[in-house]
Amino acid sequence: MDILETIKTRRNIKVFKSDLVDQDKLLLWLQAAAMAPNHRMTEPWEIYLVGPETRAKLNHKTNFGNAPFVIAVLSKYGKTDIETEENALATACFVQNFVLAAWAEGVGTFWSSMGGNTKNREILGVPEGYEVIGVFGVGYPEEIPEPKQRTPIENKLKQLS
Ligand SMILES: Cc1cc2nc3c(=O)[nH]c(=O)nc-3n(C[C@H](O)[C@H](O)[C@H](O)COP(=O)(O)O)c2cc1C
Repeated sequence: MDILETIKTRRNIKVFKSDLVDQDKLLLWLQAAAMAPNHRMTEPWEIYLVGPETRAKLNHKTNFGNAPFVIAVLSKYGKTDIETEENALATACFVQNFVLAAWAEGVGTFWSSMGGNTKNREILGVPEGYEVIGVFGVGYPEEIPEPKQRTPIENKLKQLS
């Protein structure tokens, strides 16, 4: 798949097959993700591979679509609010790199923001000074949803003088 095709066909996957994803591939996609832009090379991301006990405690409403893997992606706070915001932006770039690298090889992701609340932070063991950007089911899609329509980008373009 070329890059445009990968970007355009990606979906947030809600139901997964039980087939495992090669762990070496996961590592490869995480390594690619870490090439994300990040201001001052803060590399603010941390990745937790969520094991079965922790996953059960998270009690996600669909068990992450029964994805074979669940990962949580954290972003470190900075010394200032701006740095914290830039770190979160960098970590979102990290996530998108990971999502697209996986998707290019037929593997989908389910983005859940449920890791942010206090109870789930505790379950995940998130230390002070970090925020949870998302908890992700990762696996081969059982169903690929239809694309959700986007506003034509022309409507969001503004020509400045
Ligand atoms: C920051 C962020 C948080 C999200 N949190 C959730 C979530 O908690 N649950 C969920 O079902 N999808 C979540 N999503 C996925 C969006 O709902 C999804 O991307 C959107 O509906 C568009 O669908 P698509 O990604 O398949 O194009 C999240 C996406 C982002 C960027």
